Amino acid sequence: MDSILIRGGGALDGQVEIAGAKNACLTLMPATLLAEEPLTLTNVPRLSDITTMTTLLRSLGAEVSSLQDGRVLALSGHGADNPLAHYDIVRKMRASNLVLGPLLARHGQAAVSLPGGCAIGARPMDIHVQGLEALGAEIELKDGYLHAAAPRGLRGGEVTFPFASVGATENVMMAATLARGTTRIHNAAREPEISDLATCLRAMGARIQGDGSATITIEGVDRLHGATHPVIADRIELGTYMLAPAIAGGQVELIGGALELVGAFAEKLHEAGVEVEDTGHSLRVSRTNGRVRAVNVTTRVFPGFPTDLQAQMMALLTTAQGVSVLEETIFENRFMHAPELVRMGARIEVQGGTATVTGVERLKGAPVMATDLRASVSLILAGLAAEGETVVSRVYHLDRGYEQVVRKFSGIGARIERLRS
Ligand code: UD1
Repeated sequence: MDSILIRGGGALDGQVEIAGAKNACLTLMPATLLAEEPLTLTNVPRLSDITTMTTLLRSLGAEVSSLQDGRVLALSGHGADNPLAHYDIVRKMRASNLVLGPLLARHGQAAVSLPGGCAIGARPMDIHVQGLEALGAEIELKDGYLHAAAPRGLRGGEVTFPFASVGATENVMMAATLARGTTRIHNAAREPEISDLATCLRAMGARIQGDGSATITIEGVDRLHGATHPVIADRIELGTYMLAPAIAGGQVELIGGALELVGAFAEKLHEAGVEVEDTGHSLRVSRTNGRVRAVNVTTRVFPGFPTDLQAQMMALLTTAQGVSVLEETIFENRFMHAPELVRMGARIEVQGGTATVTGVERLKGAPVMATDLRASVSLILAGLAAEGETVVSRVYHLDRGYEQVVRKFSGIGARIERLRS
């Protein structure tokens, strides 16, 4: 298994181009199942999660062609006549569950394997089920699969989520585009990826209003048609690279970055003493004087501080002046990076959903193990600031969500290489 070697200590300088958003792309791709005509996605990130979704869609009978070195995907739901999403593919990636709503809308039935255990918490599907049932679907769990049927077709309905789940909002929004009548989703997720999906669905002929707010209204139409849609910038990749100069010192420009994608996160960086400037087409981030200050962080649904940046933020705060408290409210088991950071000399105490970080002057390089996608990149960030060498193993997690991570970090002056084995 490959690992990544980082020699820490140097300040950073240069530019990083931010890729298209993994999480947006993973919900845009299944939208092709809703239409007979082709859907073309541009600004696609080149990641193993995108390959997994490609495999899943092909297994359902859809056509997916990768063009322009993977930057463009040409998809067609024309021949998609298999409504069964098999466990062998779904278990690799939870986002596979995003085919449930489109399959149900298109075929009136679907069988989608439950994703199974996940490293960052239980992550059940009850909110997805509740939302689709409100649209008239009958859903039962049998042999590890959610079997969903809408023999008389889906009909619009009132859906009130107990929690603003991103995936459930996406599934119900997609299903409702082809339902008879009007659907209103209350307490909908407001993440930018939801608005990106709504924009794409509107380009395909869907009638959707209110995305980006807590109430989304979808008026069902008879059919959707083809479209071409550019994937929005990846705010989590953006936030991750914003942390690189924050932790190692220096100045880095993130091309394609915008403050509106990372508002709450940028505010915390500012509070910690990191400068962030929006140029209109990029973000410039710099830390040129002294250590950062401790800050308290609580993860929340958008527009709050994203859970997907919590591990990386913790890496920064390990070297802050003072004591920081990080509270994780979205996932119940998302501090697995903490013991690895402790191996590098960090002082962290975890109790339930709260981590208390007492900043140290300097981290020390060590062999560490990636436990999930965001945890792995937090260890790279820590390695940038550490004295000596850090080797991060199990980097297949990184390949799921960070494209060309070694090239991008090297491009801003980090001493980093991939060790093949
Ligand atoms: C998406 C993102 C993921 C991010 C998360 C929260 C994608 C592909 N993934 O995941 O990177 O970390 O949003 O911003 O977009 N829950 C239930 N029942 C459900 C659904 C969710 O209890 O039916 C719980 C989950 O266990 C979790 C919380 O709700 O504790 C958040 O989940 P959700 O917003 O659904 O996240 P995902 O869509 O899976």
